[in-house]
Amino acid sequence: MNPVQNIQSDRQQARQLGDSNADVCFLALADADGKASVRTLVLRDINDNRFTLFINKTSPKWKALTDGTGHELLIWYPSMQRQYRISGSLQEVDGEIVGSNWQRRPTGSKYLDYVYEELGNQSSIIDSRKVLTDKINQLKQDQDAENMQSPPMVAGIELVADRIDLLDLNHQDRVHDRRLYIYDGGTWSSQVLIP
Ligand SMILES: Cc1cc2nc3c(=O)[nH]c(=O)nc-3n(C[C@H](O)[C@H](O)[C@H](O)COP(=O)(O)O)c2cc1C
Repeated sequence: MNPVQNIQSDRQQARQLGDSNADVCFLALADADGKASVRTLVLRDINDNRFTLFINKTSPKWKALTDGTGHELLIWYPSMQRQYRISGSLQEVDGEIVGSNWQRRPTGSKYLDYVYEELGNQSSIIDSRKVLTDKINQLKQDQDAENMQSPPMVAGIELVADRIDLLDLNHQDRVHDRRLYIYDGGTWSSQVLIP
């Protein structure tokens, strides 16, 4: 069985069931000092073994990602009662693809991406919320939303999965089914784990 196809099928059903996790995932990172962090991200796309995320290079998570100090992606669909823990290598998405995807972002998110360029890095401290809202109001006056282009620090990342740990809770008496899928030589193989 191909676990990526299983995720795609679960995701589709989760959407139909109104699962609020259907379009998101959770990215855990470790930095060079071993400090762990985790955040919710929109899971933009799943193609073959590739899971696409959009982030901003001004964020501290970009350094943790590019330093290669440790990452894992988690998907949990409550409506399907299945958790997937995904690991693999990371590749940056081509800038042209990022740029065309960026055009489909909600207008408010576009202005926020401009804020990271002009006010300060994502996740940096500012004096007050007013500093932020003033900046956005100024950007709205200066920039016509229709003509905005993707700023250089917007990035796409693909996690190319080669290891997927599935925990399936759809079994009686809490005897969950847990399987580890490994991608090697062009195919997925699986082993059963104690849940
Ligand atoms: C539902 C949801 C979706 C989110 N999607 C994204 C996303 O696609 N990209 C992103 O950079 N941050 C997204 N965020 C915000 C991140 O969780 C996080 O707060 C932000 O990226 C700052 O993270 P950092 O401290 O690692 O810089 C989302 C948050 C939520 C709750």
